[in-house]
Amino acid sequence: MFNNNTIQRFNDTETPFYYYDMDVLRNTLDACRDASSKYGFHVHYAMKANFNPKVVDMIQSFGFGADCVSGNEVKAAIEHGFDKEKVVFAGVGKSDKEINLALDANIFCFNVESVQELEIINDLAKAKNKVAGIAIRINPNVDAHTHHFITTGLDENKFGINTWQLNDVAETLRKCDNLKFLGIHFHIGSQITDMEVYRNLCTRINEMQDWFENHGFTIKILNTGGGLGVDYYNPDTNGIADFESYFKVFSKFLNVKPGQEVHFELGRAMVAQSASLISRVLYVKNGQKKNFLILDAGMTELMRPMLYQAYHAIENLSKQLAVGSGQSEQENHSPVSTHHSTIKYDVVGPICESTDCFRKDVDLPQSYRGDLIAIRTAGAYGEVMASGYNLRDHVQSIYSE
Ligand SMILES: Cc1ncc(COP(=O)(O)O)c(C=O)c1O
Repeated sequence: MFNNNTIQRFNDTETPFYYYDMDVLRNTLDACRDASSKYGFHVHYAMKANFNPKVVDMIQSFGFGADCVSGNEVKAAIEHGFDKEKVVFAGVGKSDKEINLALDANIFCFNVESVQELEIINDLAKAKNKVAGIAIRINPNVDAHTHHFITTGLDENKFGINTWQLNDVAETLRKCDNLKFLGIHFHIGSQITDMEVYRNLCTRINEMQDWFENHGFTIKILNTGGGLGVDYYNPDTNGIADFESYFKVFSKFLNVKPGQEVHFELGRAMVAQSASLISRVLYVKNGQKKNFLILDAGMTELMRPMLYQAYHAIENLSKQLAVGSGQSEQENHSPVSTHHSTIKYDVVGPICESTDCFRKDVDLPQSYRGDLIAIRTAGAYGEVMASGYNLRDHVQSIYSE
């Protein structure tokens, strides 16, 4: 929900752009810190979700660690002031260059995704006369009950090491003098709101830690990954992810031994509700079968709907402003329906791809060229995935303060 002053400010700003509500971000981070610190849990922010500098700086100021999936993310995390002792590095295809960069930065832990990667990190660390902290990313074959495009912890997924390869892992670890085994790591998927899924994950983590201990390894860290979902349907009434229930499940069902640390890598839940993509209607096409609202933002600014068939709430802000202020139809340059009926529109972007559609059959008040449209809950995997396809300008950002 945007107040009239904010919408007026949008009116004066060239679209499209991301609008970051820094209060929403701050309140979310507060909630995350409060809920996790109760149990002494360690939270790393998954940099991939959003690395808008102001967003990252605020997250860093809360004392969270950083979860990175590329050498450049490791570099950026350190440049933004994250403590290197709180930087973890996952990714199924770390290049030698990226591993070397992370070794030079003395990061806390590599989350290793194959037996071969263990050997390579060991060799590269040896060449630098260093010892690399590592955790084994295990594929626990737990169904995340989320969209199959964002499921990562099933046998069919490319991520992590499958349990039948653990004997090889143990053998390799025993041979690798330049690796320090710290513990085990998991990440089963994203946008998970069913707490039962995390309970199942805890069961698997407990089994895996027994396996390692039975094979003579000491586990210092249990890294459960990220994945906590947000409410894309009700961004105003349910704006903060359920951190309380999430951390509680792990505190209850994870078998944490004395001296062990529990780590999390949250991305979406920390940033998703803090931003909206604001755009304007360029054209309205009324067809026989379909009405189209053609926006000046498309898949080059927000790719989630096209990539994952993801849902985002879509609002006509010009109508909200006009109704709120009692503006006349002429003043607002777009007539306000006196009745509250809506029209179904396919809300699409300007990009030359048929998949460039934010949502089909969206119920909106009758909309006109120039109307401001907000696409909500766009703070995670939004700006960060923006591309220059069709030689589009890079999307701009504005902030609530
Ligand atoms: C290894 C790893 N950790 C954490 C995350 C963050 O996930 P989310 O944004 O769902 O919390 C991801 C996202 O894909 C990931 O790949």
